[in-house]
Amino acid sequence: MTKKRTAVLISGRGSNLAALIAACREPAFPAEIALVFSNVETAEGLRVAAAAGVPATAFSHKTFATREEFDAAIDAALSAAKIELICEAGFMRIHSDGFVRKWQGRMLNIHPSLLPAFKGIRVHQQAIDAGVRISGCTVHFIVPELDSGPIIAQAAVPVFPDDTAASLQERTLVEEHKLYRAVLKLVAEGKVVLREGRAVFL
Ligand code: GAR
Repeated sequence: MTKKRTAVLISGRGSNLAALIAACREPAFPAEIALVFSNVETAEGLRVAAAAGVPATAFSHKTFATREEFDAAIDAALSAAKIELICEAGFMRIHSDGFVRKWQGRMLNIHPSLLPAFKGIRVHQQAIDAGVRISGCTVHFIVPELDSGPIIAQAAVPVFPDDTAASLQERTLVEEHKLYRAVLKLVAEGKVVLREGRAVFL
């Protein structure tokens, strides 16, 4: 079995990255993490990659004049590493339309809410402020509009009356780690594809 060469894009802690690295270490898992990219040079996730012996590269968007130039540099790093799939895991930059078009159907994101509820940032606080009793996480194909791509899979968690953003985040992360590896497996095996704007299970 040839494993799909996968890049993980991060900006921070890298707990989803760690979960994906662990999954990919399993011999029968259909993907391997061939590159980690961070737009934050001090991201903790870069240490996760280094500890696991996974190639990583980091450069800041701040050193580029435009979003397009920054994305072109990321794309060059992805091409050099012969990447076939991208998993965004806490990558807090919006891509240019051209980059998204190029990778459409091969680029996933995880978001810590049951989309389409609570897009953007401060997601757990949004859920608490809205008083929902169930929240969760979503893995979707990335399209140009933020947090709006075709949903592949979701997992739910309860929201308790005494939850804080931190406690809800902690509960949600446990599910994120399980969901992301399950979805990456399906996509890497070609069992789910982006077709006519929807995630289609084959
Ligand atoms: C995760 O909760 C992920 O769902 C979220 O950032 C966190 C990254 O944590 N992503 C977004 O909010 C994207 N809109 P991690 O670095 O420990 O994986």
